[in-house]
Amino acid sequence: MNKEDFRQRLMVALDVPNAQEAWIKRDQLADHVGWFKVGLRLFVAEGAPLVRTLLKTHKVFLDLKFHDIPNTVAQAIESAGNLGVQMVNVHAAGGADMLQAAVQAASAFPNMKLIAVTVLTSDSMPAKQANALAVERALLAKQAGLHGVVCSVHEVANIKQACGHDFITVTPGIRWGNQDIQDQKRIANPAFAIQSGSDYLVVGRPIIQAENPASAADEAVNMMASKS
Ligand code: C5P
Repeated sequence: MNKEDFRQRLMVALDVPNAQEAWIKRDQLADHVGWFKVGLRLFVAEGAPLVRTLLKTHKVFLDLKFHDIPNTVAQAIESAGNLGVQMVNVHAAGGADMLQAAVQAASAFPNMKLIAVTVLTSDSMPAKQANALAVERALLAKQAGLHGVVCSVHEVANIKQACGHDFITVTPGIRWGNQDIQDQKRIANPAFAIQSGSDYLVVGRPIIQAENPASAADEAVNMMASKS
Protein backbone atom coordinates (compact mmCIF):
# COMPACT_ATOMS: atom_id res chain seq x y z
CA MET A 1 0.00 0.00 0.00
CA ASN A 2 1.50 3.40 -0.96
CA LYS A 3 1.12 6.81 0.66
CA GLU A 4 -1.74 7.76 -1.64
CA ASP A 5 -3.67 4.71 -0.43
CA PHE A 6 -3.21 5.90 3.15
CA ARG A 7 -4.28 9.46 2.23
CA GLN A 8 -7.52 7.87 1.04
CA ARG A 9 -7.94 6.37 4.51
CA LEU A 10 -7.47 9.66 6.35
CA MET A 11 -10.58 11.73 7.09
CA VAL A 12 -10.05 15.27 8.32
CA ALA A 13 -12.82 16.59 10.53
CA LEU A 14 -13.64 20.07 9.21
CA ASP A 15 -14.79 21.28 12.61
CA VAL A 16 -14.62 24.99 11.72
CA PRO A 17 -17.33 27.63 12.22
CA ASN A 18 -18.04 28.75 8.65
CA ALA A 19 -17.47 28.23 4.93
CA GLN A 20 -14.71 30.84 4.74
CA GLU A 21 -12.58 28.87 7.22
CA ALA A 22 -13.57 25.57 5.64
CA TRP A 23 -12.22 26.69 2.25
CA ILE A 24 -8.93 27.82 3.82
CA LYS A 25 -8.46 24.36 5.38
CA ARG A 26 -9.61 22.55 2.25
CA ASP A 27 -7.10 24.48 0.13
CA GLN A 28 -4.27 23.89 2.61
CA LEU A 29 -5.06 20.17 2.71
CA ALA A 30 -6.28 19.64 -0.86
CA ASP A 31 -3.62 17.15 -2.01
CA HIS A 32 -2.88 15.74 1.44
CA VAL A 33 -6.12 13.94 2.36
CA GLY A 34 -8.81 12.02 0.50
CA TRP A 35 -11.76 12.73 2.75
CA PHE A 36 -13.31 15.55 4.72
CA LYS A 37 -15.73 14.91 7.53
CA VAL A 38 -18.50 17.47 7.91
CA GLY A 39 -20.02 17.41 11.37
CA LEU A 40 -22.61 19.30 13.33
CA ARG A 41 -20.80 22.62 13.70
CA LEU A 42 -20.16 23.26 10.02
CA PHE A 43 -23.34 21.63 8.73
CA VAL A 44 -25.56 23.68 11.03
CA ALA A 45 -23.79 26.84 9.87
CA GLU A 46 -23.52 26.20 6.14
CA GLY A 47 -25.66 23.18 5.23
CA ALA A 48 -25.96 21.30 1.95
CA PRO A 49 -24.42 23.95 -0.39
CA LEU A 50 -21.06 23.63 1.38
CA VAL A 51 -21.17 19.84 1.14
CA ARG A 52 -21.97 20.02 -2.60
CA THR A 53 -18.94 22.23 -3.21
CA LEU A 54 -16.68 20.01 -1.10
CA LEU A 55 -17.84 16.97 -3.08
CA LYS A 56 -16.39 18.48 -6.27
CA THR A 57 -12.86 17.81 -4.98
CA HIS A 58 -13.08 15.31 -2.09
CA LYS A 59 -15.03 12.46 -0.64
CA VAL A 60 -17.32 13.51 2.21
CA PHE A 61 -18.35 11.73 5.39
CA LEU A 62 -21.49 13.45 6.67
CA ASP A 63 -21.13 12.92 10.42
CA LEU A 64 -24.50 14.02 11.79
CA LYS A 65 -25.08 10.89 13.90
CA PHE A 66 -28.81 10.54 13.25
CA HIS A 67 -30.74 9.23 16.27
CA ASP A 68 -34.51 9.56 15.99
CA ILE A 69 -37.60 7.47 15.19
CA PRO A 70 -37.12 5.09 12.22
CA ASN A 71 -39.15 7.12 9.70
CA THR A 72 -37.33 10.37 10.46
CA VAL A 73 -33.91 8.72 10.25
CA ALA A 74 -34.80 7.00 6.96
CA GLN A 75 -35.84 10.34 5.47
CA ALA A 76 -32.60 11.99 6.64
CA ILE A 77 -30.58 9.14 5.08
CA GLU A 78 -32.44 9.67 1.81
CA SER A 79 -31.52 13.37 1.92
CA ALA A 80 -27.86 12.46 2.54
CA GLY A 81 -27.97 10.05 -0.40
CA ASN A 82 -29.45 12.73 -2.67
CA LEU A 83 -26.69 15.09 -1.57
CA GLY A 84 -24.16 12.56 -2.87
CA VAL A 85 -21.99 11.98 0.22
CA GLN A 86 -19.91 8.79 0.30
CA MET A 87 -20.50 8.08 4.00
CA VAL A 88 -23.18 8.92 6.57
CA ASN A 89 -23.84 7.71 10.10
CA VAL A 90 -26.48 6.98 12.72
CA HIS A 91 -26.30 6.09 16.41
CA ALA A 92 -26.45 2.31 16.98
CA ALA A 93 -28.16 3.17 20.28
CA GLY A 94 -31.23 4.06 18.18
CA GLY A 95 -32.05 0.33 18.11
CA ALA A 96 -32.74 -2.39 15.53
CA ASP A 97 -35.86 -0.86 13.95
CA MET A 98 -34.14 2.47 13.40
CA LEU A 99 -31.05 0.77 11.94
CA GLN A 100 -33.13 -1.35 9.56
CA ALA A 101 -35.06 1.70 8.35
CA ALA A 102 -31.76 3.48 7.72
CA VAL A 103 -30.41 0.49 5.75
CA GLN A 104 -33.50 0.36 3.60
CA ALA A 105 -33.26 4.07 2.78
CA ALA A 106 -29.53 3.80 2.05
CA SER A 107 -30.02 0.85 -0.32
CA ALA A 108 -31.09 3.32 -3.03
CA PHE A 109 -27.57 4.84 -2.93
CA PRO A 110 -24.99 2.10 -3.60
CA ASN A 111 -22.06 4.54 -3.47
CA MET A 112 -22.86 5.65 0.08
CA LYS A 113 -21.59 3.73 3.11
CA LEU A 114 -23.91 3.65 6.12
CA ILE A 115 -22.16 3.27 9.46
CA ALA A 116 -23.18 3.39 13.11
CA VAL A 117 -21.61 5.09 16.10
CA THR A 118 -21.06 2.45 18.78
CA VAL A 119 -19.81 4.31 21.88
CA LEU A 120 -18.46 7.87 21.69
CA THR A 121 -14.66 7.94 22.06
CA SER A 122 -15.16 10.76 24.59
CA ASP A 123 -17.28 8.55 26.87
CA SER A 124 -15.59 8.01 30.19
CA MET A 125 -17.02 4.56 30.95
CA PRO A 126 -14.36 1.96 31.88
CA ALA A 127 -12.52 0.51 28.86
CA LYS A 128 -13.77 -3.04 29.41
CA GLN A 129 -17.38 -1.91 29.53
CA ALA A 130 -16.93 0.35 26.47
CA ASN A 131 -15.39 -2.53 24.56
CA ALA A 132 -18.23 -4.94 25.36
CA LEU A 133 -20.89 -2.35 24.50
CA ALA A 134 -19.11 -1.40 21.28
CA VAL A 135 -19.01 -5.05 20.14
CA GLU A 136 -22.67 -5.54 21.08
CA ARG A 137 -23.73 -2.45 19.10
CA ALA A 138 -21.48 -3.36 16.17
CA LEU A 139 -23.20 -6.76 15.97
CA LEU A 140 -26.59 -5.07 16.04
CA ALA A 141 -25.45 -2.80 13.17
CA LYS A 142 -24.06 -5.75 11.23
CA GLN A 143 -27.28 -7.74 11.66
CA ALA A 144 -29.32 -4.77 10.44
CA GLY A 145 -27.17 -4.62 7.30
CA LEU A 146 -25.00 -1.55 7.89
CA HIS A 147 -21.53 -1.38 6.30
CA GLY A 148 -19.59 -0.66 9.47
CA VAL A 149 -19.15 1.39 12.63
CA VAL A 150 -17.42 4.33 14.22
CA CYS A 151 -15.45 3.06 17.22
CA SER A 152 -12.22 3.59 19.12
CA VAL A 153 -9.01 1.99 17.85
CA HIS A 154 -9.00 -0.18 20.98
CA GLU A 155 -12.23 -1.88 19.91
CA VAL A 156 -11.33 -2.57 16.26
CA ALA A 157 -9.86 -6.06 16.77
CA ASN A 158 -12.84 -7.36 18.75
CA ILE A 159 -15.34 -5.81 16.35
CA LYS A 160 -13.59 -7.31 13.30
CA GLN A 161 -13.54 -10.67 15.05
CA ALA A 162 -17.26 -10.49 15.80
CA CYS A 163 -18.47 -8.90 12.54
CA GLY A 164 -15.92 -9.97 9.93
CA HIS A 165 -12.91 -8.37 8.30
CA ASP A 166 -14.96 -6.51 5.67
CA PHE A 167 -17.07 -4.73 8.27
CA ILE A 168 -15.72 -1.15 8.10
CA THR A 169 -14.22 0.51 11.18
CA VAL A 170 -13.84 4.29 11.29
CA THR A 171 -11.79 5.49 14.24
CA PRO A 172 -11.66 8.98 15.78
CA GLY A 173 -9.69 9.73 18.95
CA ILE A 174 -6.37 9.86 17.08
CA ARG A 175 -3.45 11.67 18.75
CA TRP A 176 0.32 11.43 18.38
CA GLY A 177 3.47 12.98 19.86
CA ASN A 178 2.69 15.32 22.73
CA GLN A 179 -0.69 16.40 21.45
CA ASP A 180 -3.36 17.47 23.89
CA ILE A 181 -6.01 14.72 24.13
CA GLN A 182 -8.70 17.39 24.81
CA ASP A 183 -12.12 15.77 25.41
CA GLN A 184 -11.15 12.40 23.88
CA LYS A 185 -10.60 9.46 26.24
CA ARG A 186 -9.81 6.26 24.33
CA ILE A 187 -7.07 7.56 22.03
CA ALA A 188 -4.39 5.94 19.84
CA ASN A 189 -1.75 7.10 17.37
CA PRO A 190 -2.03 6.64 13.57
CA ALA A 191 0.50 3.79 13.43
CA PHE A 192 -1.30 1.81 16.13
CA ALA A 193 -4.66 2.50 14.45
CA ILE A 194 -3.44 0.91 11.20
CA GLN A 195 -1.78 -1.94 13.06
CA SER A 196 -5.07 -2.61 14.85
CA GLY A 197 -6.91 -2.95 11.55
CA SER A 198 -8.75 0.38 11.41
CA ASP A 199 -10.01 1.16 7.89
CA TYR A 200 -10.39 4.96 8.19
CA LEU A 201 -8.81 7.36 10.68
CA VAL A 202 -10.71 10.52 11.66
CA VAL A 203 -8.46 13.38 12.75
CA GLY A 204 -9.76 16.81 13.71
CA ARG A 205 -7.93 19.26 15.92
CA PRO A 206 -4.41 17.77 15.57
CA ILE A 207 -4.57 18.73 11.87
CA ILE A 208 -7.08 21.57 11.68
CA GLN A 209 -5.50 23.55 14.52
CA ALA A 210 -1.89 22.78 13.57
CA GLU A 211 0.33 25.67 12.54
CA ASN A 212 0.85 23.82 9.28
CA PRO A 213 -2.15 21.53 8.63
CA ALA A 214 -0.58 19.97 5.51
CA SER A 215 2.53 18.83 7.37
CA ALA A 216 0.43 17.52 10.26
CA ALA A 217 -1.62 15.49 7.73
CA ASP A 218 1.60 14.23 6.09
CA GLU A 219 2.92 13.25 9.51
CA ALA A 220 -0.23 11.20 10.16
CA VAL A 221 0.02 9.55 6.71
CA ASN A 222 3.70 8.73 7.27
CA MET A 223 2.89 7.12 10.59
CA MET A 224 0.08 5.13 8.99
CA ALA A 225 2.41 3.97 6.20
CA SER A 226 5.09 2.96 8.69
CA LYS A 227 2.85 0.11 9.88
CA SER A 228 1.75 -1.23 6.52
O1 C5P B 1 -10.51 16.99 17.08
P1 C5P B 1 -10.68 15.49 17.17
O2 C5P B 1 -9.59 14.74 16.42
O3 C5P B 1 -10.87 15.00 18.57
O4 C5P B 1 -12.01 15.23 16.37
C1 C5P B 1 -12.66 14.00 16.32
C2 C5P B 1 -13.86 14.11 15.41
O5 C5P B 1 -14.48 12.85 15.35
C3 C5P B 1 -14.90 15.11 15.88
O6 C5P B 1 -15.45 15.70 14.71
C4 C5P B 1 -15.95 14.26 16.58
O7 C5P B 1 -17.24 14.79 16.44
C5 C5P B 1 -15.85 12.96 15.79
N1 C5P B 1 -16.25 11.75 16.49
C6 C5P B 1 -15.68 11.32 17.68
N2 C5P B 1 -16.13 10.19 18.30
C7 C5P B 1 -17.09 9.46 17.75
C8 C5P B 1 -17.67 9.87 16.55
C9 C5P B 1 -17.22 11.02 15.94
O8 C5P B 1 -14.76 11.96 18.17
N3 C5P B 1 -17.47 8.32 18.31
